[in-house]
Amino acid sequence: MITPYSTDGHYIHPSILNADFMSIGSELDKISSADSVHVDVMDNHFVPNLTFGPSMVEQIVRRSTIPIDAHLMIADADTEAPAYAEAGAASVTFHLEAARAPVKLARDLRKKNVQVGVGLRPASAVEPLLDIIGEFDMLLIMTVEPGFGGQSFLETMLPKIRRARAAISESNLEVSIQVDGGVSRETIERCAEAGANVFVAGSAIYRAQDAAEEISALRELARGHAAH
Ligand code: DX5
Ligand code: ZN
Repeated sequence: MITPYSTDGHYIHPSILNADFMSIGSELDKISSADSVHVDVMDNHFVPNLTFGPSMVEQIVRRSTIPIDAHLMIADADTEAPAYAEAGAASVTFHLEAARAPVKLARDLRKKNVQVGVGLRPASAVEPLLDIIGEFDMLLIMTVEPGFGGQSFLETMLPKIRRARAAISESNLEVSIQVDGGVSRETIERCAEAGANVFVAGSAIYRAQDAAEEISALRELARGHAAH
């Protein structure tokens, strides 16, 4: 089984949301030194934007040399998430706010041999999730309102990351914490110090002169400020 992340490392997942879709092959080549490709799936209901469906994800999986981390911003996760595991994503993250039966969905996805993440919008508290967090490989803490790339990092999410990391460590669980939104050279160290270990960066990487250099700079900054 491909494991795009585990709790003992620091991982950079470039988001292709703001890549040039007309040249998706070379856009993927630019980030081949990263750990996973973060694919933002939006259905125009959970968020006011529309992007990929399962067949496009399947094509990205086929073209990419690194694993796919699918971030599902879709209103009906229970029904639609399994298709992304079947499309070949190595990791599938759905939002807690969009799942009727998150534990059942996590278990169903696990059976399809993917890592499973659960995401929280900025206004959602982490505490109601803590009793079931062991069902997941990763907790995604959104650091912008989901929907668009290029927004400013929400500093107010740092205490949530810290509380989540403390609770996970206290329970001796192996759950990664992913941050997504406004992650850059300016913000990544604070995220790592608070306890995140998987970092999504879209505009920081695709707007850089040299994407590979940006990926290694972000990785170094995250490793240098690891909380554990
Ligand atoms: C926002 C997406 C993010 C976004 C990140 O809804 O989930 O993955 O593309 O882009 P930046 O890094 O530009 O904030
Ligand atoms: Zn995302």
